[in-house]
Amino acid sequence: MTDARVPDSVPDSEPGVAGRLVLIAGATSASGEAVARALVAAAARVLAVGTRQEALDALRASVPGVETRACDLSDPDAVVELAMRIHLESGHLDGLIHLVGGWRGGGGIAGQSDDDWEFLERGFRTLRNTTRVFYDDLVASPAGRLAIVSSTAVEKPYPGGANYAAAKAAADAWVRAIAQGLAKEAPHGAATVFVVQTLQGLEAQLGREVVALWDAEALAVNGRRVPLDPARMDG
Ligand SMILES: NC(=O)c1ccc[n+]([C@@H]2O[C@H](COP(=O)([O-])OP(=O)(O)OC[C@H]3O[C@@H](n4cnc5c(N)ncnc54)[C@H](OP(=O)(O)O)[C@@H]3O)[C@@H](O)[C@H]2O)c1
Repeated sequence: MTDARVPDSVPDSEPGVAGRLVLIAGATSASGEAVARALVAAAARVLAVGTRQEALDALRASVPGVETRACDLSDPDAVVELAMRIHLESGHLDGLIHLVGGWRGGGGIAGQSDDDWEFLERGFRTLRNTTRVFYDDLVASPAGRLAIVSSTAVEKPYPGGANYAAAKAAADAWVRAIAQGLAKEAPHGAATVFVVQTLQGLEAQLGREVVALWDAEALAVNGRRVPLDPARMDG
């Protein structure tokens, strides 16, 4: 560990994600890897976080240039400790891309189990923990960006997916609350909700859309719910 501080951010006058420090929370799924690849290709400094060290090692091998940190983001103390290490070793974040999720459901309303709810709520907790700890970074950055991937189930929930839709709705509302905070405290910052039915086949597009958050004016993307539309895919 070194206490030599890397300059926290590139100036606001330079658009784009190049040189900016971006943490991907839940980075080892196919979508996490695609986002990491896109950010590294755009010259961002990428910190990828998950709980399984072997999955992080595989990500580092697959996407050279990514730095990894193992952390259970559902544990608030672990997130505080992670932030202290990041601030010391890498600087302050310019971006938090939160991709912890997972699906549990089935069985109609009566079948919405407590076990499933606990699993889904744990994913939401990782969003609360990371955003509460890193919100000040996003405010202080000249181009702070937060993004999550929500679901079409929020607007069109089904009984068998009620737990899932409720957890995603909570995440969705949480991020839009942050967007309101940024609008007041840091108009150069933005919090964005991408919306999909399924991410399968859209991973590369998600990567491009995440990179593009830094090319857009904060006002244009803050508080927005952006559908990931396969028709907009260009390769
Ligand atoms: N897949 C879809 O079709 C779909 C549809 C709509 C919305 N979404 C949303 O899109 C996002 C990405 O989805 P996905 O399917 O690609 O990934 P996912 O399976 O939801 O992602 C799991 C990722 O989060 C990490 N993770 C899980 N628990 C963690 C914890 N406590 N602390 C730190 N990391 C943790 C996992 O790594 P470890 O196992 O190593 O911890 C993995 O990297 C999610 O928010 C999801 O709800 C996905």
